[in-house]
Amino acid sequence: MTSPLLCVRDLKVVIGGRHILHGVDLDVAAGGVTALLGRNGAGKTTTVRGVLGLVPRTGSVRYGGDETVGMTTHQIVRRGIGYVPEDRGVFVALTVAENLRLAERDPDPAYDLVHELFPELKQRARQQAGTLSGGQQQMVAIGRTLLNRGNRLVIADEPTKGLAPRVVTEVAVALERAAQAVPVLLVEQNLALVRRLAAHCVVLADGRTAHAGPAAELLADTEKSKTLLGVGRRADVTARGGDH
Ligand SMILES: Nc1ncnc2c1ncn2[C@@H]1O[C@H](COP(=O)(O)OP(=O)(O)O)[C@@H](O)[C@H]1O
Ligand SMILES: [Mg+2]
Repeated sequence: MTSPLLCVRDLKVVIGGRHILHGVDLDVAAGGVTALLGRNGAGKTTTVRGVLGLVPRTGSVRYGGDETVGMTTHQIVRRGIGYVPEDRGVFVALTVAENLRLAERDPDPAYDLVHELFPELKQRARQQAGTLSGGQQQMVAIGRTLLNRGNRLVIADEPTKGLAPRVVTEVAVALERAAQAVPVLLVEQNLALVRRLAAHCVVLADGRTAHAGPAAELLADTEKSKTLLGVGRRADVTARGGDH
C-alpha cells in the first residue's frame, strides 16, 4: 500500500475496566475500499469508535499525517472524516432532503456530487426516509457523509447488516460509487461484498489485528479465511443470525 491515509498503531481501549482492544494496527489506503473484518465481538466497532475519539483510547491514530489521539471527536471529524454508524442514523420521520440538510456543514455542500452518485436521492427528495428501502436509506447515510467537501475518508460500519440480498447489491453499488469519490473504510461481514469492493483488508480477532494484506489473497485462501473469520457457509449464517 502506498502511503496510507489513516494509520492506526497499537490502539487500546478499556471501557469500564474491561480491556476491549489490546493492540489494533490498521492502515487505510488513500483510495478505494479497505475492509475491516472479524467475527462478531472481535472489536471492529470499538476500533472505529476509537479512531473517532468516541471512546477513551491509547496508542497512535495518524490521519493525513496528524496524530489524533488526544483530539476530541469534534476536532477529528472536522479534519474530514464521514461516519456511517451501524444503525445508519437516518431520521425516518424526515424527508430525504431534510436528512441531507441536517448534515450540511459547508457553506457550499456538495449536492452536485451526491446527486450525481445517487440520482435516486434527488428524485426522492420529498419522500419520507422511513418509507425508503434499506438500501436507499444507506444511500442517504452515505450521501450525508459526502455532502461535506472536506471529507477525505468515509467509515461505514456494517452497512449491509440485516439487509435482503437484493438490497445488499444496492448498497454495494452505493459504496462502489462513493469509493470513486473518497476512500472508504468498510466494516463488513459479507465476504462477497468484500471480494467485490476491497483491495486491502485487516482482520481483527479478540481485540487485536490478526491479519492484514490484499483482500483477494485472503479470500482465495479458504483455510486461512476459515480460521480467521469462521466462514464456511454455516458458520457465516450462524454469526449473522445473532448468537450474541
Ligand atoms: N461500551 C461497552 N462496554 C462494555 N463492553 C463493550 C462495549 N462496547 C463493546 N463492548 C464489548 O467489546 C467487544 C467488542 O465489541 P465490538 O467492537 O462491538 O465488536 P464487533 O463490532 O467486532 O462486533 C464485545 O465483546 C462487546 O461486548
Ligand atoms: Mg460492530
